[in-house]
Amino acid sequence: MSASVITVEKRESASQNLIIEPAASLSLQGRIRVPGDKSISHRALMLGAIAEGETQISGLLLGEDPRSTASCFQAMGAEISELNTELVRVKGIGLGNLQEPVDVLDAGNSGTTIRLMLGLLASHAGRFFTVTGDSSLRSRPMSRVIKPLQEMGSQIWGRKGNTLAPLAVQGKSLKPIHYNSPIASAQVKSCILLAGLTTEGKTIVTEPSLSRDHSERMLRAFGANLVTDHQTNSVTITGPTQLYGQTVIVPGDISSAAFWLVAGAIVPDSELVIENVGVNPTRTGILEALAMMGADIQQENQREVAGEPVADLRVRSSRLKSCTISGDIIPRLIDEIPILAVAAVFAQGTTIIRDAAELRVKESDRIAVTAQQLNKMGAQVTELPDGMEITGGTSLSGAEVDSHTDHRIAMSLAIASLKASGQTIIQRAEAAAVSYPEFFTTLQQVCGDG
Ligand code: S3P
Repeated sequence: MSASVITVEKRESASQNLIIEPAASLSLQGRIRVPGDKSISHRALMLGAIAEGETQISGLLLGEDPRSTASCFQAMGAEISELNTELVRVKGIGLGNLQEPVDVLDAGNSGTTIRLMLGLLASHAGRFFTVTGDSSLRSRPMSRVIKPLQEMGSQIWGRKGNTLAPLAVQGKSLKPIHYNSPIASAQVKSCILLAGLTTEGKTIVTEPSLSRDHSERMLRAFGANLVTDHQTNSVTITGPTQLYGQTVIVPGDISSAAFWLVAGAIVPDSELVIENVGVNPTRTGILEALAMMGADIQQENQREVAGEPVADLRVRSSRLKSCTISGDIIPRLIDEIPILAVAAVFAQGTTIIRDAAELRVKESDRIAVTAQQLNKMGAQVTELPDGMEITGGTSLSGAEVDSHTDHRIAMSLAIASLKASGQTIIQRAEAAAVSYPEFFTTLQQVCGDG
């Protein structure tokens, strides 16, 4: 293993250029851990805040997104100890007891914070809340949660015909609905279930295909009256249903592990073990897609930790081939599509990704940004309205690329640069801290620079 050159160049304000120049004989080795699952971290903080009694969280993600969740709930009266990975204590204030905050709640860059929290705010009768976020979040669609909440009787106002943040919410006592969601979105599903906690009767959400089920698992563990029907992809919550503080052990985030799975697969003579990764079946689409592409990935030491399946993942480099990714698998790998596109660039043949129009309304337009930035390095990625067509087997050259402040784009470009000749400069690389603050340190470590 020989070291690559990875340097960080501070620019004006907080922005950073990251410069990566891989050694000609680079191979990746090591046993690593990824930070805690982002989805589970948000939910542990939120449910802890509204439960009765104390919740203890270990393995919490210390990224910017869960910090946004913690500060919003602290502003509404929950006592949350200093965030760390060892043990965070959340003193819950009990169902329906969120206090009216004295200032605007700031969800930062986090779609999960704002959308899930809206379900709780809307159902706090008699209290008034205002919510905003950063420029990316203020451009992302909120009507997907506002519409069902309005059907339940809530009052929410926002920019552009009540579709964009900043939002104002007048909490109401809501009525139960059966919502047939047009999209498979865990944020939409969870928002409605959280609104259903204090709502008298049965609140039901049906989705077109199954999205991540962390909310269902955790709500049940906290004592909610919740039933899932796998035949129809429906979840029913019967309210009002009190929650009780629990111990949550957050596994490593498979969406963060995905960068190392692809890196280990495409960089020759590599072998990485990523320990303690959450392998909930609603999240493992990435493992199935990489298996279709011929990647050598093994799950070892499979176990269940606090209601979530966990394993160590071993990846060895292999020759990848193209595949088609579409349909029901998409919600199970939605956040991994930028890094899957990187894998496809190094696979023989043409990979097609369809049914993923949701990518256009993530932290950035991930279809446009992935295609533009990888093409700057010499890849052949064509945008489709709902996906991408990627012709593999072209060789990449280092270029100046930009994360567009999207954490997953910053990290995907860093992995692509490991196989590019010459120097790649990634602008606004600091975006990685949203979900993976230690990403570049671990990158140096597996490259032998650490
Ligand atoms: C998330 C759900 C997904 C995912 C996001 C986290 C969650 O979003 O992309 O990163 O924690 O519920 P959608 O529900 O919009 O698909």
